Amino acid sequence: MKVTESRRIPEVFDAVVIPFDDKLTLLPQTEALLPERLLLPVRAALREKKADGFCAGPYAQDVYDEKLDRSRRFVLIGLGNGSLTNRELFLRLAKALQSCKAVKAGVTAVLLDNAGAILKKPAVLEKLCELPYLVSYQFNAYRSAPVENGMKEMVLVTEQEGLEPVLEEAGHVAMSTRMARDLVNHPSMYMTPVRFAGEMERMAAENGLEITVYGPKEMQEMKMGAFLSVARGSKEEPRLIVLRYCGGKADEAPIALVGKSVMFDSGGYSLKSKMATMHDDMGGGAAVAGAIRAIAAQKLPVNVVAVMAACKNMVSGDAYVPGDILFSMNGKTIEMLNSDAEGRLTLADAITYAIRKEGAERIIDIATLTGAAKGAVGARSAAVIAGDETLYEAMKKASEDSCEKIWRLPADQELFEVLRSEVADLKNSNPGNTMGGGTIVAGLFIREFTEGKPWIHVDMAPVNWLAEGNSYSIRGGTGYGVSLLYETVKNLL
Ligand code: BES
Ligand code: ZN
Ligand code: ZN
Repeated sequence: MKVTESRRIPEVFDAVVIPFDDKLTLLPQTEALLPERLLLPVRAALREKKADGFCAGPYAQDVYDEKLDRSRRFVLIGLGNGSLTNRELFLRLAKALQSCKAVKAGVTAVLLDNAGAILKKPAVLEKLCELPYLVSYQFNAYRSAPVENGMKEMVLVTEQEGLEPVLEEAGHVAMSTRMARDLVNHPSMYMTPVRFAGEMERMAAENGLEITVYGPKEMQEMKMGAFLSVARGSKEEPRLIVLRYCGGKADEAPIALVGKSVMFDSGGYSLKSKMATMHDDMGGGAAVAGAIRAIAAQKLPVNVVAVMAACKNMVSGDAYVPGDILFSMNGKTIEMLNSDAEGRLTLADAITYAIRKEGAERIIDIATLTGAAKGAVGARSAAVIAGDETLYEAMKKASEDSCEKIWRLPADQELFEVLRSEVADLKNSNPGNTMGGGTIVAGLFIREFTEGKPWIHVDMAPVNWLAEGNSYSIRGGTGYGVSLLYETVKNLL
């Protein structure tokens, strides 16, 4: 897939996307761009759409005239009166490209200037340029016959100058999102902690990142008792993967991006009843990997360290069992009462590592942490617990620009009561908890390991995986978080 810009519609094209504001006018300069054979049908379709109250509809509507040469298609989309959010615009544009994909359009031209004022906003334009990469994504690693959707190029037809850097940035972010999707989509029999580390080594070499990969012996030396306990039930060795990008000043403390990387979550002895997609439990790790890749490609002037504690949560004769007491790297002891609340255990040691060994002064963690998050905020948004207003403001703005939604939950310390233990410093979970707030409680657990540093936590469980595709993502990993984290770090510069 590639995205290019041009002042004219290309000689050969398969689809044209024409955006409109609420006035529904085909501007003279747009008419001048359209080839003769499209002009009449586009005008006719527009008249019809006007009669239908086109722009009032929630999403893009597509039209193509079957009487035309079948390979020449056009899509009209209404973008409203300028009051739509970036996310709403993003979804409409996605829908338009989705209809181009449905007719296997190889080259799609977007007549940007017809809704110039609306699409001029830099964040919207950048997302529009990401969309072709996101919509055309396929995961063919395990198919004898690859699924081809034919999408090759999107041409932005515009008089606007200086789009080059926008196209480039969009390419970096979107390709990093696609990498994250790939990482999540591989089943855990393939994407083991060791393979994940291998993929990261390759990615680091390609993008000029520093990387360190630790094995069990080194984890033992660092006293990562919480992480190692989760890992113990699996035949696959765990890996602590650390990626560093140093684009900032040499003496500036790095921002830590810590991603939950449970390559498969069976629940352990607190066994899950449904687990067919639980190889997606490393979506947080995939997101931080994608984010640091994009940050490096874009050469942002900042120091970032990405930390992934990769392991599998399995059942075996040697697995940790409820009632065990774990010795975290932080020094706090943890009464483990639910082996399915494993993510917070791996994150606890990963965060301690980021603070004590990498000198991180700000911590952003992202994790498929609780099923409760979906109940709390719904399946279109991640849940956020913020311990720091500056980080929250940066992420909130990033969420608007990236079109990856977040919703903040309160870090209500009163709920911490349920994690108090009689035998250890804290519990990892309280099976008798009738207070609810599972997502908040998980966040409060993690906060215990942040040593008072500015910290924000993203529970991406609701948005990490799609059981059915949507307008910009096929079934499977969404790559959520890459763009959100990238923009968040940018906002912290
Ligand atoms: N990885 C799961 C959370 C999850 C569940 C993500 C379903 C996506 C879909 C996590 O490790 C987990 O099992 N959490 C428990 C926590 C509980 C035991 C306190 C949960 O949500 O039930
Ligand atoms: Zn679990
Ligand atoms: Zn999990």
